[in-house]
Amino acid sequence: MTEAGHLTTADIGDVPGPVLGDDARALARRIVAKYPTPRSALVPLLYLVQSEAGWVPRKGMREVAELLGLTTAEVEAVATFYTMLKLHPCGRYVLSICTNPSCALRGGKRLFERAHELLGEDCEHVTADGVFTLEEEECLAACDTAPVVALNYVFYNRVTEEALESMIEAVRAGRVPEASRGGVPGELREVSRTLAGLTGRLPEGAEAERA
Ligand code: FES
Repeated sequence: MTEAGHLTTADIGDVPGPVLGDDARALARRIVAKYPTPRSALVPLLYLVQSEAGWVPRKGMREVAELLGLTTAEVEAVATFYTMLKLHPCGRYVLSICTNPSCALRGGKRLFERAHELLGEDCEHVTADGVFTLEEEECLAACDTAPVVALNYVFYNRVTEEALESMIEAVRAGRVPEASRGGVPGELREVSRTLAGLTGRLPEGAEAERA
């Protein structure tokens, strides 16, 4: 990826060098030990890859396959099924906007269009500043609070166009707003770490590594 956050061909599908270093492999072994069979740790290990790389490159899938004694095809079949596992470089915050009927009737489609206008043409991959990835989302099962917007999978209810604009501005300024049910979403790598079954805190030096 360029300094401005644009994709290069090298970013798509793979990365140079190993994804899981020695520390991450030690964490992987701890995760595997929690499950009755290695295969059961497949999804958590893919989230571990995502917490290390910021997404799930093919090389990470191959490393997980080796760790679990599976084929890369078996790992890919799972990785490509779950939409929260990202198969391309992403921004630090995934902004998901539901455009299914309940939300669409209350302005969800317009919210998605407005987000697109604000975030720029590459935003469904990663914005130029590396902050956002925009997703048009299927029903988030919170139709009673439509239109729903999620930031790294934490929900914001009954979002207006003005509230969306303020949210984008605040996140860009490093002031992530509190979600409707409380809590402030972490960055994608932190959230992925939690989903891997580890604490949400990034290891020391991860910030510098990402920069
Ligand atoms: S249609 Fe948007 S949450 Fe159900």
